[in-house]
Amino acid sequence: MVNKFVAALKHENTSTPPVWMMRQAGRYHAHYQSIRAKHSFLEVCKTPALAAEVAMGPMRDFDFDAAILFSDILFPLEAMGIGLDFAPGPKLASHLREVADLENYNPNIPPDFFEFQADGLRQTRAMLSPEKGLIGFVGAPLTLYFFAVEGSHKGDCSSAHAGLLDGRFKGFMERLHPVLLQNMKTQAAARPDAMAMFDSCGGDIAPDLFAKIYLPHLARVLRDFNAAYPDMPIIYYGKHMTREYWDLLRDLPITCLGVDHYQNLPNAMQKYGARWALQGNFHPDYLTLPHDEFRARAAEFFTAMATVPTELRQGWVCGLGHGVTPQAREENVKAFVQMSREFFGAHSAAA
Ligand code: CP3
Repeated sequence: MVNKFVAALKHENTSTPPVWMMRQAGRYHAHYQSIRAKHSFLEVCKTPALAAEVAMGPMRDFDFDAAILFSDILFPLEAMGIGLDFAPGPKLASHLREVADLENYNPNIPPDFFEFQADGLRQTRAMLSPEKGLIGFVGAPLTLYFFAVEGSHKGDCSSAHAGLLDGRFKGFMERLHPVLLQNMKTQAAARPDAMAMFDSCGGDIAPDLFAKIYLPHLARVLRDFNAAYPDMPIIYYGKHMTREYWDLLRDLPITCLGVDHYQNLPNAMQKYGARWALQGNFHPDYLTLPHDEFRARAAEFFTAMATVPTELRQGWVCGLGHGVTPQAREENVKAFVQMSREFFGAHSAAA
């Protein structure tokens, strides 16, 4: 049986596009809610059997083509000594308010700190059929920096700009580097099919600033990881990122670029689809619409994607421009997966 997810990352998928969604295991899903009624979010993340069970829920109910580790991007901050809780949004015990606060971030963490994630991946793989993909993930350095400063996610990640220039950013990047690399390597040792890096704040600094102060740090961690695991595909997702940013990423060891829902995916695929596999980008909010309206939006999306030349579409990982929201309707999530198979099954048969 072909693993469509793995094939698409290599631009070799000749079947219907693999479908996967960020936050496919989450609060919109009754299965997740039933487990969360008995266990806290942190308990689920740190108990590999529970994390695997939660990750498998949407695989069973909606038949996605890839499962994603059930975890969070903020554990490197906890590893460095910053207390972490979720209520349900993240709550950090202290914030990076001034340069002196860098002392609170200890880069010398226990070597086994992230083993719970590796075990979560292993237990998920054991329950997953071989034709399904498995994704490990981390947060990108810039996004972790914004969370360290703001302590939560306010929506546009924009209130931490001063720290980009006053020494907090550089000091944080230096301390984070070995921790984030260790996070990625620990997961990679459990052999997921890809390593995703989520840069939810990626497009919240201007492209010139991105190039000047951030790109070297991003490049360093991706290159160091790639040197250790050269065969593991890297998926890089950046929110609010445009072509101006993507052009900066061309020489990084990125296999698949996640495209958010503010971009036109067919156009992006025409221009960048030969360089990268592309993931995205249905609007997450449309999953909250009444079912018939949702179906109309999904049909529009698939019709637009069908205009992309087949060779380029062989590198498409179908999904959302960001994550499933707690307000999404399960029936729409399920129908999205089914509709994509019906639509592209018929489309390639007719071609
Ligand atoms: O299926 C999956 O994708 C599940 C794994 C997953 C979670 N968070 C579970 C989670 C993944 C891949 C993430 C990534 C993540 N976490 C990101 C990057 C992607 C993005 O959303 O931009 C970020 C910024 C975080 C930090 C974080 N953790 C936030 C902002 C929140 C609050 C989200 C919310 O919906 O309220 C969390 C908590 C969190 N992470 C939940 C889940 C299921 C909800 C916790 C709960 O059930 O109480």
